[in-house]
Amino acid sequence: MKTPVVEVSNVKKVYGKAGENQSYALNGVSFTIHEGEFVGIMGPSGSGKTTLLNVISTLDQATEGMVRIAGSDITKMKQGALSDFRSQKLGFIFQDFNLLENLTIYENIALPLSLQGVTSRQIGPKVQKVAETLGITAILHKNPAEVSGGQKQRCAAARALVHEPAIILGDEPTGALDSKNATSLLTAMTNLNQEHGVSIMLVTHDAYSASYCERILFIQDGEMYKEIHRQSSREDFYREILDVLADLGTTKA
Ligand SMILES: Nc1ncnc2c1ncn2[C@@H]1O[C@H](COP(=O)(O)OP(=O)(O)OP(=O)(O)O)[C@@H](O)[C@H]1O
Ligand SMILES: [Mg+2]
Repeated sequence: MKTPVVEVSNVKKVYGKAGENQSYALNGVSFTIHEGEFVGIMGPSGSGKTTLLNVISTLDQATEGMVRIAGSDITKMKQGALSDFRSQKLGFIFQDFNLLENLTIYENIALPLSLQGVTSRQIGPKVQKVAETLGITAILHKNPAEVSGGQKQRCAAARALVHEPAIILGDEPTGALDSKNATSLLTAMTNLNQEHGVSIMLVTHDAYSASYCERILFIQDGEMYKEIHRQSSREDFYREILDVLADLGTTKA
């Protein structure tokens, strides 16, 4: 039996106050991500992707429905518990890296552990381990300004991973990278997923990035539109993704 890591059940999100112009950004979305899966979320602009990511990442609250992460129902948690939960169970990779410029790469990666009060003696081996996995041991002593965009993003991935979260959530993590660096990040994420069993959920506009996922959920107008699984090569999956995007009436979903 595969263990569910993210369970989203009939989630609705309404923006605006009652009586005003209310609209459903999410209108009854349900799906499950299992431990060790690499899942993409795609859909046209305004379809609800960021809203969904925010609800799952505990940054925003669902109006209705249930979101369970690693067995805990986050829709029932209070603010204080939520922020602990977020820092222990979730790892984030954003488009713009979010590295602190006046800390070294090492210190940036160590940050989630320092914030949790882990001792520096325990932090060292953990940072070394993720840095090796992501191929960035040689640049740990540098500042973010001294490394390439792709290296920065692999540092951000290491930071997202160092506290061994239940799932890594990516919001357009390749958005600011050129194609070579995007490919190296996607390869690193695939390696994390396949060799280390890390669960990943990736929101992206980009069919090329999405083709590295094993399953893609498409949303449209706040509802689940379609789900596809990678059957054979990444190249075939890429073409299949483009076909679904064309059906959705857009080439840039
Ligand atoms: N804070 C907000 N207040 C009111 N409406 C909002 C708010 N945030 C999003 N919306 C609306 O909710 C819907 C979904 O928005 P969301 O940002 O989730 O879309 P998206 O799929 O991430 O789009 P994009 O691909 O352009 O980033 C849109 O109609 C949007 O206008
Ligand atoms: Mg968005």
